[in-house]
Amino acid sequence: MIIEPKTRGFICITSHPNGCEKNVLNQIDYIKSKGKIEGAKKVLIVGASTGFGLASRIASAYGSNASTIGVFFEKPPLEGKTASSGWYNTAAFEKQAHKDGLYAKSINGDAFSNEIKEKTIALLKKDLGEIDLLIYSLASPVRTHPNTGVRYKSALKPIGDSYTNKTVDFHTGEIKEITIEPSTSEDIENTITVMGGEDWQMWITALKNENLLSSGFKTVAYSYIGPELTKAVYRNGTIGKAKDHLEETAFSITDSLKDINGNAYVSVNKALVTQSSSAIPVIPLYISLLYKVMKEKGIHEGCIEQIYRLYNERLYLDKIPMDEQGRIRIDDWEMRNDVQEEVTKLWEQATTESLPLIGDLNGYIMDFFNLFGFKFDGINYEDDTNEMVLIPGLQ
Ligand code: NAI
Repeated sequence: MIIEPKTRGFICITSHPNGCEKNVLNQIDYIKSKGKIEGAKKVLIVGASTGFGLASRIASAYGSNASTIGVFFEKPPLEGKTASSGWYNTAAFEKQAHKDGLYAKSINGDAFSNEIKEKTIALLKKDLGEIDLLIYSLASPVRTHPNTGVRYKSALKPIGDSYTNKTVDFHTGEIKEITIEPSTSEDIENTITVMGGEDWQMWITALKNENLLSSGFKTVAYSYIGPELTKAVYRNGTIGKAKDHLEETAFSITDSLKDINGNAYVSVNKALVTQSSSAIPVIPLYISLLYKVMKEKGIHEGCIEQIYRLYNERLYLDKIPMDEQGRIRIDDWEMRNDVQEEVTKLWEQATTESLPLIGDLNGYIMDFFNLFGFKFDGINYEDDTNEMVLIPGLQ
């Protein structure tokens, strides 16, 4: 079929297998160009198909020759209907990994469920045994609790007062003011249940009970802090409460791993265009301005550059550098004073008219379409393309 982008608000409901493949191969090339990373050899990635989780899988496989199992929740293709991009990304990754002699298998389903944890445990027992690293990179708007069957929905809202600020519709470039009403206490609890640390802990407990964690095992989950500008809606909002919970959970997981000398970490990553971040109001405008400033200073990074730095310059050092709250920081360049001062100045000036000049809206739009395999050079989007691409190591 001829595959074109079809957007609905902040998502794209089609994706292009050849473009997704290009996206994956570019990331593989980046890691190969960097040489060997001293890292884990058997890695489980929960949330492995897009964004930071995909980059983590690629960096482990191609930096450290690791065997990887990826867990994710993606839509397979149907005749005449494309798969979701994470499906095609994984198909491309596994195809290449198998060609290069790397073990790579995947499980598609709800990572919050007992069933998917059990399936993963069975696969580990059969194929890999103990793992040395678990990357927890889930981003989901909903979670069905495995013990009660209750379905929780997260909210992206401020706490206490309503929040008014600028936001951009990145399809049209129009900047408008939006007001987000404050959350209820139920919104806060629900968001913590979906995006907090409980499920991360459940994964670790389930794997440890089956003796599937190696001595010296590490696990990392991803968090975000961000600037003053987005504080009310992000870090001091409902999602920030969930991130506080995730960060606290790292300490209780570490306590539970003492007997195997294991450790749990949270890495605070940079704001980037992913399917999850495009859904958060205000963030796309912030990212457009941030990209402009960081690109001008030569310090812009995407997911793969971020994870390379996490593995190579943080996680496997004898002494891991951390902030006062015990978090790994790879958002250090985003949070530099000179970067934030410039972004704040640009924020004041940003209007529909000025944004194309002072911001990097085009960079945002490119990254957004790239997530779904569109707008890559060297791909003929008018070609008849096979949408029925399968994931070779899908269980
Ligand atoms: P993403 O949307 O690109 O990836 C989410 C992954 O989770 C995908 O692999 C998806 O299939 C999987 N997933 C979602 N629901 C699932 C379910 N029920 N079962 C199994 N898999 C499921 O998201 P992104 O942005 O890479 O986020 C990953 C983590 O990084 C999140 O914790 C996010 O808060 C954090 N982060 C993101 C930043 C950003 O700017 N995008 C910045 C800093 C941290």
